[in-house]
Amino acid sequence: METKILSQEQIADAARIIKSGGLVVMPTETVYGLGADAFNKQAVANIFKAKGRPMDNPLIVHIGAIKDLKRIVSDIPEKALILARAFWPGPLTMVLPKAQCVPDEVSAGLDTVAVRYPSHPIAETLILLSGTLIAAPSANLSGSPSPTELKHVVDDMNGRVDAILDGGSCEVGLESTVISLVGDVPRLLRPGGVTVDEIESVIGKIELDPAVTEKLREGEKAASPGMKYKHYAPQARVVVVKGSDEQYIRYVNSQDKKGIGAICFDEDAEKLNVPFFSLGPKDDQAAQAKNLFSVLRSVDEAGIALAYARCPRLDGVGLAVYNRLIRAAGFEVTCLA
Ligand code: TXA
Ligand code: MG
Repeated sequence: METKILSQEQIADAARIIKSGGLVVMPTETVYGLGADAFNKQAVANIFKAKGRPMDNPLIVHIGAIKDLKRIVSDIPEKALILARAFWPGPLTMVLPKAQCVPDEVSAGLDTVAVRYPSHPIAETLILLSGTLIAAPSANLSGSPSPTELKHVVDDMNGRVDAILDGGSCEVGLESTVISLVGDVPRLLRPGGVTVDEIESVIGKIELDPAVTEKLREGEKAASPGMKYKHYAPQARVVVVKGSDEQYIRYVNSQDKKGIGAICFDEDAEKLNVPFFSLGPKDDQAAQAKNLFSVLRSVDEAGIALAYARCPRLDGVGLAVYNRLIRAAGFEVTCLA
């Protein structure tokens, strides 16, 4: 298949492709998404094929207005409306009871559907022009880091989709926060751009799914099917190192140098004597979120075999950075402190 790269001026062409059952990669404020008409079963099945994604991992439906919720959700809890008004359009996905019209292919047979109203103007316009709702996972090959730049998308999806809409770099850089509103207490399934504190400030206490920070035990069922797969992983082995600035530098510099790299903060860079890839300033969590997936891809391009990564702070959006990094590391952590 020939993949067209379209500019913002060509959104109408992209909308026509969606309408006729094709696949279009669209930029969003979080990461690029691999989109298709959410009500076209064949088109949705083609998303799974293009990504090499297991069919039991459900997709997020992207809407272009809060009122679209009614089209795909059978019962909208009050807290969902409060969250929608506070954080949409934006990097928040809500898991809600699904309406019958949502194909099983989208929800992977679950009786819930994940919904997000993205704030990127290209995504928003594409949804509105296509006259439908767009099911889209992140536009990476299954298991790889999510794409945050056009180049990442082209590397993974050229020849597998009808078109790619160029939107430059994604602002947030990590996928949306996923929260389930189907139980008695709202439950965070995946941390992202909207933080736990921000959510609790509008709907009160929420629960954190244990899979946010810990590995699922053998046989344990994932509340969010995506959590059970090895994720966001570069080819390189990644080890998360917990400890002070000095402990980290000393530890990395004392390793046998062959094939070693460091995923560090800006402040560490000049003290390291191995190739380094910086996530950004130590105290700038937004920068770390924005850069993480690019850094993971660069580590592979540089042919690094083993990368030692600084452990980010776990507050604010740092929880999302940690959640992705720990999965990229296959939960391998070295504690120096
Ligand atoms: O920021 C994002 O969310 C991006 C952009 C493109 O919108 N999308 C994205 O989609 O990250 P994906 O498919 O890579 O991740 C969606 C996650 C998966 O872990 C999936 O298992 C979970 O959401 N999910 C989807 N539907 C669900 C449902 N009904 N119940 C529980 N988890 C669900
Ligand atoms: Mg993904």
